[in-house]
Amino acid sequence: MLEQVLQALGDGDEYVSGEAISQLLGKSRTTVWQLISTLKSKGYAIEASTKKGYRLVARPDRLYAWEVVPRLKTDWIGRHFEYREKVTSTNDIAKELAQAGASDGLVVAADEQSRGRGRRGRGWSSPFGGGIYMSIVLRPDVSPREVPKIALVAALGVAEGIEAATGLQTAVKWPNDVLVDGKKVCGILVEMEAELEAVRHVVVGIGVNANVSVDDIPEEARERASSLSILRGSPIDRVQLTAEILLAVERQYVRWIQDGFQTILPMLKSKTASLGVPLVVIDGHRTFEAEGVDISDDGALLVRQSDGKIVPVYAADVSIRNA
Ligand code: BTN
Repeated sequence: MLEQVLQALGDGDEYVSGEAISQLLGKSRTTVWQLISTLKSKGYAIEASTKKGYRLVARPDRLYAWEVVPRLKTDWIGRHFEYREKVTSTNDIAKELAQAGASDGLVVAADEQSRGRGRRGRGWSSPFGGGIYMSIVLRPDVSPREVPKIALVAALGVAEGIEAATGLQTAVKWPNDVLVDGKKVCGILVEMEAELEAVRHVVVGIGVNANVSVDDIPEEARERASSLSILRGSPIDRVQLTAEILLAVERQYVRWIQDGFQTILPMLKSKTASLGVPLVVIDGHRTFEAEGVDISDDGALLVRQSDGKIVPVYAADVSIRNA
């Protein structure tokens, strides 16, 4: 019903009479008034005039489904969009919904996470309204061995989506961080449920520092992380950014499923900041210095060790070493 009121109010150029909204909805003027109050409590600025009716003055910067879905250009990702104001972690909610049978492409988004999770047991700072915190449920018909590639495919899509929405130049840090000006602005956490040979579902959790302020970035991370608003010097429209990211992720994911990883690789390589540069690789208990050389057909980062030997790295923490 709220969506219908918003539709009736349009883009806010003109006043719309309470009578007109009431007729459109087939509800009483009192109900319309109550719905307008609810919208106001959700952050919409609406002017009311006894003579002219209602006028939408400003929309809140929130990831409500009725704000995001109309701006989606995807075929299927995000068409089922679950918004929550605050969650522990959108990955947890997406996982629950996936276990309960949620369809391929469901997106769960929140304006705040109390226990945002990062890779390797780390946390993910998720202040209210600062970032995009969302998780996509995917049901690819591939072997579980293929699933780590989804992180690369998603990172490429997120990087493209950020460029489309903000005009900022992005790079991918293998396997799944997105950088702007060498600073991390996005992290991706891929989790899956699988049997020996079949994937039940994959949850791709995407965290983007959109309007996060310096104070919200953990002190120890400030050297290497930042936010899009800080780097661009102006606030980010999170709804538009969400829509662009989902479009680009869908495009790359479909390309991977239909045409294979080989078709993604050239784009990925050209966007990857981890190639041709000195790296520090933390692979389990082993930390070593190496140079990024290539990405293999199976998604591994190929690095040249100090003894000249080229070895594949599959699931390490890789940072770019300042020479
Ligand atoms: C990382 O770089 O360590 C990955 C961070 C992933 C954060 C996102 S925010 C949305 C989703 N929910 C979570 O709890 N984590 C991911």
